[in-house]
Amino acid sequence: MVIDGRTRTCGLIGNPVEHTLSPLIQNALANEAGINAVYVPLGVKDGLKKAIEGAYTFGFAGMNVTVPYKRDVLELLSGVDDAAGRIGAVNTLKYTDKGYYGYNTDVTGFVREMEELGLSVAGEDVIVLGAGGASLAVCEGLRQLYVDHIYMLNRSLDKARQLYGDCSDITLLGLDEYDKIPDGGYTCIQCTSVGLPDSADRAAIEDEGFYSRIKAGVDLIYNPSETAFMKRVTFQYPFNYQKDTFAYSILF
Ligand code: ATR
Repeated sequence: MVIDGRTRTCGLIGNPVEHTLSPLIQNALANEAGINAVYVPLGVKDGLKKAIEGAYTFGFAGMNVTVPYKRDVLELLSGVDDAAGRIGAVNTLKYTDKGYYGYNTDVTGFVREMEELGLSVAGEDVIVLGAGGASLAVCEGLRQLYVDHIYMLNRSLDKARQLYGDCSDITLLGLDEYDKIPDGGYTCIQCTSVGLPDSADRAAIEDEGFYSRIKAGVDLIYNPSETAFMKRVTFQYPFNYQKDTFAYSILF
């Protein structure tokens, strides 16, 4: 990779970003395609507005957005495409004359992964852990896969109600209320940030009783390659998927 005066800069905005594999993937793809661009991690502990304004001033060609900014970034954009507007979360920004324009490729990535894995949820009830920006895309993806009903467990019920209170196909529960879910074997999609390197030995729910209800687990966290959540699912069943649903990008 040669960086010169014409190199376009792209990056990943989030906190934390130390675990990300996106620079590895995106720089390799740019190199392979002969595109003069570089992709860097952009850790933003606070001051998202200033970070977006600064990136725009420097003319960053585009950025991906991850935990915990997928929703907060919406109000800082010049507009969003239909899918991102419907979902209410964004993971990809593209430079335009009027500001950054937002897209959500998480839904496509999630649906594609589920299909490639052969993990069908059509007509089934599914458990979603977490009620943040990533969960919004996952719920939309699950609907496209014809899920019947979603049990969504979140640490903060109030926050979950604000975002999902109007959804008739979602039952909201606290993390310690999993025993209110009817008995059965469920597919569970892990969408919380618990299990990232700063909390690698932890899962959002630690109780064994919860994992006895899980027949298949998908963790959106791909680094570490086996999260504490996945270890607990595998302990119960040898049917264990862990995939990065966020590798899809429309930046390049
Ligand atoms: P993203 O946009 O990537 O989904 P987010 O909107 O900050 O990021 O959502 C992070 C999710 O992880 C939320 O569901 C959050 O729970 P709260 O809504 O209660 O904050 C969850 N989460 C983060 N830290 C957690 C922890 N220590 N224990 C349990 N859940 C946690």
